[in-house]
Amino acid sequence: MTLKSKEIEAIYRSKVAKKYDLPISHFFGKYKKLAFNDSSLKNGDRVLVFCCGTGLDFSHILRKIGKNGKIIGVDFSSEMLNKAKEKIKKNKWDNIELIQADVTKFQYKIDKKFDVGVCTLGMSIIPEYKSAYYNLVSYVKKQGEIIIGDMQLASGWRARLNPLSIFLAKRYGGSYKGHQNSLELCNIMKKELRGVKKKEFFFNSYFYCIGKIK
Ligand SMILES: C[S@@+](CC[C@H](N)C(=O)[O-])C[C@H]1O[C@@H](n2cnc3c(N)ncnc32)[C@H](O)[C@@H]1O
Repeated sequence: MTLKSKEIEAIYRSKVAKKYDLPISHFFGKYKKLAFNDSSLKNGDRVLVFCCGTGLDFSHILRKIGKNGKIIGVDFSSEMLNKAKEKIKKNKWDNIELIQADVTKFQYKIDKKFDVGVCTLGMSIIPEYKSAYYNLVSYVKKQGEIIIGDMQLASGWRARLNPLSIFLAKRYGGSYKGHQNSLELCNIMKKELRGVKKKEFFFNSYFYCIGKIK
């Protein structure tokens, strides 16, 4: 693990995990819902969720995949995963497995690749985001879908709001470089995936990008 990853892990070991859900679901809940509604997720799908954190995406995904589907959530923060565990227990969800691991190096034995790979608010805080992205892609089947939702640098007149969005994201490990990386990640998705759609929100500082594996 690089020093930078260690710093990010430390952020999520602090008070952040305890006070994470309320502001994040309040601010991003509607965009998450839009992204999953715009995806191909369907009943019975198997979904790999990188940087699952406290599991704020789970209810949106479960609404689509039902009880026959399965979610595997991966995150390196035990504090964030503990919050996810509480949520799973409270809601009696029995088709979610959590794994503590670094998503840039995550290795998992599978008989069958996943139908969909998801990462929201994760890639932009990972210095080695390309390793994380390609690792996620490697676990998803051909014609399967990748769903990324994240912060990004806005351009044009909206760029004036970049300092504010970076400032707000800093508490969670966000940075100018991370916001910039998102633009590169979407370019990679547009080049290497099929049928890519990108939607932008909140003065273009948040986006989701969805595409299928060729
Ligand atoms: C901003 S939170 C996003 C959580 C969730 N996806 C959401 O949208 O609420 C970022 C999460 O990424 C995790 N994370 C960051 N870098 C990671 C890495 N290299 N491997 C695994 N998890 C990582 C953190 O522990 C944290 O839980």
